[in-house]
Amino acid sequence: MEGIDFEALQHMARPEIFDFEGITMIPPFTDNWENVQNFQARPDDILIATYPKAGTTWASYILDLLYFGNRAPERQTSLPIYMRVPFLEMCFPGFPAGVDLANNLTTRPRLIKTHLPVQLVPKSFWEQNCRVVYVARNAKDNAVSYFHFERMNRGQPDPGDWNTYLQNFMDGKKVFGPWYDHVNGYWEKKQTYSNLHYMFFEDMVEDTGREVEHLCSFLGLSTPKEEREQVTKNSHFDAMKQNKMTNYSTIPVMDFNVSPFMRKGKVGDWKNHFTVAQNDQFDEHYKQRMKNATVQFRTEI
Ligand code: A3P
Repeated sequence: MEGIDFEALQHMARPEIFDFEGITMIPPFTDNWENVQNFQARPDDILIATYPKAGTTWASYILDLLYFGNRAPERQTSLPIYMRVPFLEMCFPGFPAGVDLANNLTTRPRLIKTHLPVQLVPKSFWEQNCRVVYVARNAKDNAVSYFHFERMNRGQPDPGDWNTYLQNFMDGKKVFGPWYDHVNGYWEKKQTYSNLHYMFFEDMVEDTGREVEHLCSFLGLSTPKEEREQVTKNSHFDAMKQNKMTNYSTIPVMDFNVSPFMRKGKVGDWKNHFTVAQNDQFDEHYKQRMKNATVQFRTEI
């Protein structure tokens, strides 16, 4: 694949976390900071923002299909999703920087992905009044998914065992900072910034078609029902897992023998991971951490 140095990626050592602008980060997401912060958004750019493992790829693919599924069908078979929807702050040696990928996009609108907490989003997105699609996922399933992702991805810090990992998650010592502040930050932003569509992973699993319809309304798209149904079908977990352009099998830092990128796609998998004691402790901590929050999550559907 053009611009990717497979050799360099295969031999990459796991990065170390450090404190950056008040959150935990790793160098591959801060090394290009000036260019990220100075990124010039255009009014029709669409920013897909999430805490890692909340359903970014799913939402990205839905948006890509809605805009380009029929307009540019060759995209669907030739370009992996991470090239179609650049990850803005990403800057791994051996991989084109997200900012460059975004600047080189020739499509309109440009679909751009970020995991940055709301306060670190480059200001041009707000100045240009860009549409922002935020996907949030309940903390327990989000934590489980992130744990397996860190296990299988050498581009991430080592998560340690599940118990250590969970404590770090609760302490906010995960890359891109605390889940709690992330989901609340965008929720609060939505109260004053009307071009932000806040979605929930659980709603998407419950009724993808309904969520695609809501997304179309937000985007001002009059996509016909049959096309929307096609998008819903093509973005189903099983279809995306089979699809080499969406399942991340083309990225050499991920070891699918440890855990596949398209792992389970379920609500409630946390029950297979949390012990009773961990669950009690997590719930207690959650109550404290979210005591002023108005956003509500479902941990089962
Ligand atoms: P699990 O690890 O729980 O399976 P992200 O794209 O933000 O990295 O999120 C990845 C998570 O979203 C993974 O969760 C993955 O399986 C899930 N996912 C991706 N596409 C999905 C789909 N079409 N339906 C349901 N879940 C999906």
